[in-house]
Amino acid sequence: MPSRLSPRRALACLGLVLGLVAQPLPTRGQTVEKRFETCIVCHGPNGQSQIPEIPSLGGQTAPYALIQLFMFRGKLRHFEPMNEAVKDFTDDDLRTFSDYIAKLPPPQPPQDGDPTRLAVGRALVQKFRCDFCHAGNLAGRDNVPRIAGQREDFLLKTLREYKANVRSGYDASMADVLVPISDQELADIAYYSSRQP
Ligand code: HEC
Ligand code: HEC
Repeated sequence: MPSRLSPRRALACLGLVLGLVAQPLPTRGQTVEKRFETCIVCHGPNGQSQIPEIPSLGGQTAPYALIQLFMFRGKLRHFEPMNEAVKDFTDDDLRTFSDYIAKLPPPQPPQDGDPTRLAVGRALVQKFRCDFCHAGNLAGRDNVPRIAGQREDFLLKTLREYKANVRSGYDASMADVLVPISDQELADIAYYSSRQP
């Protein structure tokens, strides 16, 4: 087993890379609300996505959002329009947007859950310890993202990508976690997680 940084240490290192220690904020003419309008086109008003396979951002943890924006800017995570959207962001911009995203309300889950399938999904989430890292209510913590209430189609897509090693994470936790999990189980987990408040 290669040694890995713990999430906390990784975050501390990233903090150094991004220069999270106090720096004067450059003034950019527009408010973050105004600048976020370009993001809403895809991620929905208040970061509540209405579009298949585009994630909701509301209530996402600030450290996770910051790392992902940093990765998109550096083309360590690939989705062309996202890479384009943040390519000119300064480190302060990355922080401003991730802090803003974390304060938006979390997405409202659909209320149409089939109790049997929800029970299957819940059992899988416990069996594979998703709730250990993503928190008991799946609301995320630190660099581990909120998955509660996230779009089901985005969750399934992204879980499949981690499993196929197509999506590179900031740390390797997810690809490791998903090795023993079947595609049907991924679908049940996505079904359950997307329906959590
Ligand atoms: C053209 C559509 C589009 C625009 C515009 C856009 N995004 Fe995205 N964004 C996406 C998609 C699609 C993904 C998921 C990519 C993937 O599948 O890995 C994403 C992912 C993200 C993520 C990671 C979310 C997660 O749960 O992993 C963050 C944070 C984010 N976008 C913030 C922003 C911000 C801030 C802006 C505006 C400056 C923005 N986006 C503009 C489409 C867009
Ligand atoms: C050892 C801790 C750990 C465990 C266990 C774990 N995760 Fe994760 N998960 C993470 C971390 C860290 C990330 C962020 C990785 C990155 O940078 O891409 C993540 C990312 C994700 C994402 C991407 C979310 C987004 O918005 O793009 C999903 C979905 C996810 N995990 C679902 C799960 C599910 C489902 C399980 C259980 C089968 C699980 N995780 C188990 C740590 C964990």
